[in-house]
Amino acid sequence: MKRRAPILLAAIFMLGSLAVSLDHEQSLASTPPMGWNSWNKFGCNVSEDLIRQIADAMVASGMKDAGYQYIVIDDCWQVERDGNGNIVADPKHFPSGMKALADYVHAKGLKFGLYSDAGTKTCQGRPGSRGYEFQDARQYAAWGVDYLKYDWCSTSTQDARSSYEIMRAALDASGRAIVFSICEWGNSRPWLWGKGVGNLWRTTGDITDKWEGKNKWPNGDCCSYGMTDILDQQVGLESFAGPGHWNDPDMLEVGNGGMTVAEYRAHFSLWAILAAPLIAGNDLRDMKPEIREILTHKEVIAVDQDPAGSQCRRVRKNGNLEVWSKVLQDGSRAVVLLNRGAADGEISVLWEDLGYPAHLSAGVRDLWQSKDLGGRKGMFSATVAPHSVVMVTVKP
Ligand code: GLA
Repeated sequence: MKRRAPILLAAIFMLGSLAVSLDHEQSLASTPPMGWNSWNKFGCNVSEDLIRQIADAMVASGMKDAGYQYIVIDDCWQVERDGNGNIVADPKHFPSGMKALADYVHAKGLKFGLYSDAGTKTCQGRPGSRGYEFQDARQYAAWGVDYLKYDWCSTSTQDARSSYEIMRAALDASGRAIVFSICEWGNSRPWLWGKGVGNLWRTTGDITDKWEGKNKWPNGDCCSYGMTDILDQQVGLESFAGPGHWNDPDMLEVGNGGMTVAEYRAHFSLWAILAAPLIAGNDLRDMKPEIREILTHKEVIAVDQDPAGSQCRRVRKNGNLEVWSKVLQDGSRAVVLLNRGAADGEISVLWEDLGYPAHLSAGVRDLWQSKDLGGRKGMFSATVAPHSVVMVTVKP
């Protein structure tokens, strides 16, 4: 008995640490991450002053109360490596250093994120993490980083999956729980291997602040996309998303000026029903009330953050008129009626489209109006304005 005790203790300890690590995996990004990232609005114009002001605005605007957590600095915060290979933050724009900035963000009750790249250089030519993965991950952990976006420029012939697995191992070894955002543009179908490597993976090239259309990059490579072009590329990926591992159709453009308010409402509704990460990309210090209202809408955010973590499917398409439906944890459905066309459209959703029997009576609630529309049998129809959505829940 005596001799067995240490073995028993070791077994209990091992089971305990296994439970802790499983628990840790499940609790990170158990619903789609919500936050803010500097790239869409500010590009390379990042500084500690900006980040502090954004953190202040995140709290003051009600974004934090609505569920936004992560403040992520995208490309251009880093300038070089020192003689020991340590990554160096731009001393001109981040004179207090990253640890102090992370402390500031944490003191607001928020979380702090950084960007790096799996190749030798970032997309803006700053030092990448190739060959420095473990050193960088240790540095991020020491600074208090909670989220890493990891890009795919200057990767030459590197294999995507193993490149991301190296940083996964490095983050694990760092001892800090860090959300890992794979940004490989969907090139090597990260939805097939991303679960267990990262918490989210980009499924497409970059979003641009417009309703539709794609642009080639200046070097001729394809492409950046309008919002609805990104949407189309999510079809077929539904089953790969779930708690802890999400398809990422890129960050939000809501409030950046290239679309109308109705188009931004559509963009936000679609990202919510896709169970997409909700990473705002606008200037939170200077938001019009109608933009703030979109980004902080509780009922729409609740669809995104539904604990079941299922992504919507396009269940009906009739030219420019579409129906998207997502199964919620309580068995009800969130539904977006999307009009992509230039004229008003009458859009119907049949209960059979939602997997319900046709004879069922169900309560319909308009989410943007926060209004119960009453019970309906078999179907629901609405007139939807051009480039707009009507978003409802259907509850039997
Ligand atoms: C790539 C990414 C973008 C952004 C830029 C930064 O294009 O896809 O989201 O991070 O790099 O240079």
